[in-house]
Amino acid sequence: MNVTWVMGWPSGKETGSYLTLDLGGTNLRVCWVELHGREHDIKITQDKYKLTEEIKTGQAEQLWSFVAECLETFITKHNLSPNGNELIPFGFTFSYPAAQNFIDHGVLQTWTKGFDIDGVEGEDAASQLKLAMAKKDLPIRLVALINDTTGAMIASSYHDPETRIGAIFGTGCNAAYMERAGSIPKLKDLDIPADCELAINCEYGAFDNDHRVLPRTKYDVQIDNESPRPGEQAFEKLSAGYYMGEMLRLAIIDLHEQGLIFQEQDLMKTKVPYVLDTGFLSQIEDDPSTDNHVTRQCFNDSLGLQLSDNELILVKRLAHAIAARGARLCACGVAAICRKQHITSGHIAADGSVANKSPKFKARWAAAMAEVLDWPQERTTDPITLTSAEDGSGIGAAIIAAMTDDRAKRGDVVGIRDEKTRRLSKVNVL
Ligand code: BGC
Repeated sequence: MNVTWVMGWPSGKETGSYLTLDLGGTNLRVCWVELHGREHDIKITQDKYKLTEEIKTGQAEQLWSFVAECLETFITKHNLSPNGNELIPFGFTFSYPAAQNFIDHGVLQTWTKGFDIDGVEGEDAASQLKLAMAKKDLPIRLVALINDTTGAMIASSYHDPETRIGAIFGTGCNAAYMERAGSIPKLKDLDIPADCELAINCEYGAFDNDHRVLPRTKYDVQIDNESPRPGEQAFEKLSAGYYMGEMLRLAIIDLHEQGLIFQEQDLMKTKVPYVLDTGFLSQIEDDPSTDNHVTRQCFNDSLGLQLSDNELILVKRLAHAIAARGARLCACGVAAICRKQHITSGHIAADGSVANKSPKFKARWAAAMAEVLDWPQERTTDPITLTSAEDGSGIGAAIIAAMTDDRAKRGDVVGIRDEKTRRLSKVNVL
């Protein structure tokens, strides 16, 4: 439950041009976002840069100098320069658990989603990036470090006032919501009015890290043990896209080793960890053919395996079980926030590959929400629905940076680092 220092909802009138960076998965995305103060009047220019496996598992210096290099390439290519004495304002979406004493600060608690870079955990990612930018003399001023869930919530509420929660159901899983300052014990020593709202990044991917609540299969246990951070992100490892293909792969290998399937076949291609992604699972689940030839083809193309009719039934059931469990757990996370906050209607703005591309996700998620929240059977519509989030890590980061700059101008500096504001130097919520 990380305090984000995003204070309340946007007005929809935020203006300004912001550089944004999205670091959280396969690609690094840099954007130039122009906010014109009207909800449908936003211009966005963007480029993507590939993050190699070497960087994802390397050293902090390598990561940040690569990030600074991408920023440099982007501002050169698009001719961006400071406005007079004003450095280019910048919003950084860092989609990992980060504890923040200020909005431009974020101590990485643990890497997730397969990232394993030395020298960032326990350190302030924002300072490390600022140092790398300074080494290249980049004329950039970091205004805010945000999480993708907070970005999704704020960008979506800019267009849709019914937005209550921002959620990511993708490579990782997580959600953010708005809380009253008076309900947050770790803020009690700060002078924040009790009814002032601020966004909380739940980081519920780490729910049940001590394994007291949720049952795990032997495949879940194996995934955890063989991951770069065993014991971390227990809930995420059961429900997020990064792990679902791997569950299927481990189950197939196990059944083969028990002599139950794919006898006389070469499983060499199946032996590669994480060779199957969520897209593979979705294709199986979405196979529209009556003879399941799409599924047959997928196994042949990706793993070089030929399936008998019975093996086909089995892999389809496995894919179903994995995807259905994931979707139902994703509903539990959101339902828990709804219960706690007494949210009984509105929109959950969701982004991520599972939410957007997994064919049956939405229906399964809604059915599980109904079960947990006891919605009446004979309803005509669902009171809480999933909507497609607006671009949180680009537009959301820009809006949050604009909100933060506006607050600073008004002298509302809660969670904004300011050398002159001594009172705030005491903030410590880590
Ligand atoms: C991270 C969260 C992030 C989520 C979705 C998780 O692994 O811990 O910070 O919001 O993935 O990207």
